[in-house]
Amino acid sequence: MFAAWGAASVALLAFLVILSAAVSAVTALDQEAEGDCLPDDCGANCSLSLLQRRQRQSVSHDGTLRGQRFKLLKRFNLSQDPKEEWDVIAIPDANLTQSCANYVDDNSTVFSRGKDLVLRVASACADGKCLNSGRIMSKEAFKFGVFSFTVKVPKCNWLWPALWLLPGNTHGEGEYGGWPCSGEIDVLETVHDESNGAFNVVSGFGSTADFASSCASTNSTSCSCTTGYCTSSTMSCGPDGCSTADKYFVEDVDCPKVLHEHHHGHHHEEIHPSWKEHTFVLSWQDGELVTWVDPTLSIDEAGDLVSITPKPDGNISARKHQTRDPLSGLPLPNNGVAAPSWKAYRRSTTPKWQAVEPFMSSCFDEATSAAPFDQAFKLVLNIAIGGYGGAACHWGDESCSTACGGAVGSEMVVSDISVWQRTPTTTAATATTTTTITTMPM
Ligand SMILES: *[C@@H]1O[C@H](CO)[C@@H](O)[C@H](O)[C@H]1NC(C)=O
Ligand SMILES: *[C@@H]1O[C@H](CO)[C@@H](O)[C@H](O)[C@H]1NC(C)=O
Ligand SMILES: *[C@@H]1O[C@H](CO)[C@@H](O)[C@H](O)[C@H]1NC(C)=O
Ligand SMILES: *[C@@H]1O[C@H](CO)[C@@H](O)[C@H](O)[C@H]1NC(C)=O
Ligand SMILES: *[C@@H]1O[C@H](CO)[C@@H](O)[C@H](O)[C@H]1NC(C)=O
Ligand SMILES: *[C@@H]1O[C@H](CO)[C@@H](O)[C@H](O)[C@H]1NC(C)=O
Repeated sequence: MFAAWGAASVALLAFLVILSAAVSAVTALDQEAEGDCLPDDCGANCSLSLLQRRQRQSVSHDGTLRGQRFKLLKRFNLSQDPKEEWDVIAIPDANLTQSCANYVDDNSTVFSRGKDLVLRVASACADGKCLNSGRIMSKEAFKFGVFSFTVKVPKCNWLWPALWLLPGNTHGEGEYGGWPCSGEIDVLETVHDESNGAFNVVSGFGSTADFASSCASTNSTSCSCTTGYCTSSTMSCGPDGCSTADKYFVEDVDCPKVLHEHHHGHHHEEIHPSWKEHTFVLSWQDGELVTWVDPTLSIDEAGDLVSITPKPDGNISARKHQTRDPLSGLPLPNNGVAAPSWKAYRRSTTPKWQAVEPFMSSCFDEATSAAPFDQAFKLVLNIAIGGYGGAACHWGDESCSTACGGAVGSEMVVSDISVWQRTPTTTAATATTTTTITTMPM
């Protein structure tokens, strides 16, 4: 859960404060690992061409994944006590993203209801300066596969809900060091009244940060990811404003103007708006990360997932009253910008992912070309509220219960989380009839 907006450097510095040291072993530059050509010999062109040679693109340019077969590895049982399969994270957001979320573990913010898992902004903190909210992390970690989340995502009231993956512990400290050097995959992040989801991939590269230039002029690779690291994010809000590069269209939403709860019949319905239930799907393969909203999943007679087809494009069109990003204050793209229902990042064509190359090759001789996304990650779900520079509320301020007080009672309702793992495709074209479904029965 990360956003590289205008206030990002402030947030990153704040994040640093709580990160504990994760000193990585310094290893010799591994020449074999990159074959006959070192980055030092031929610059970016060399590693790019090597990567292109290695590229195994599974999703075609029209966003369709086919020619592969996936077996259901796990379907989370969301009707049982969440603590069976999830760690309920208790942590104040103070020094993470400065959102109002005080993640607690008291059964009020994370619970099962019928067949669903629910995360809830349950109440305001006693001093009104934060909001008690839910955050969970799966106990099981996964490497590669298809991850499907069927969720009713809460909107408005400055909510910032997210479905994402982190390696290692709660703080994302993994094989390649502390956050962000071990990576982060944000399948869905959406803020307030946005009609889109953002698909964001974050990595770090263990260099001394130059916050003013976002590491652009930093050349020295440090094998520790403790202080002064560089963060690389595919988030498309930068100093010049926001683009739709990382965004996929989900659903328009009109946020009610009323921020405080009034029990006036139909108004009550609008107090906690949500998107309808949608299915967010991530395909994570070696060197390729793709996210879809509501794709068609084709399941064959054996119960295997055999293709993923995107739904048609949509338009980011809900910006009826806003021209600036609510969190960053940065200019938004114009109303009515076409946005597809899926996004892809490939190591071979994503400079923000390639930026880790010197760090990985000089510090981790066993890292593959897909690093840091070549290690097991855990699933994370949470609801943040506000945070960073431009939002209406932030941690430690009464704005949490005033400007964002309407968030209390908002829920993320999760009806399915499934993980599919790739299995060798049987070459014989056993033209089995496929059943097309968008969500699987429980
Ligand atoms: C990289 O490749 C491009 C296109 O082939 C070329 O124009 C450029 O000069 C190359 N850069 C280096 C540093 O070799
Ligand atoms: C899910 O958990 C509930 C509660 O423990 C149990 O009754 C049910 O059988 C489980 N469902 C599956 C599919 O394992
Ligand atoms: C956040 O960081 C500040 C500055 O180091 C520290 O004083 C404060 O205790 C931290 N807050 C939390 C909740 O960890
Ligand atoms: C939460 O619920 C569990 C299971 O019902 C119970 O054992 C536990 O005491 C509850 N915790 C709190 C803080 O209420
Ligand atoms: C980084 O390396 C480039 C190319 O060697 C050099 O031109 C530039 O001055 C260096 N920047 C810093 C901050 O050392
Ligand atoms: C999106 O907007 C463009 C430009 O206004 C329009 O041509 C296109 O039909 C719209 N697409 C959808 C799916 O609404």
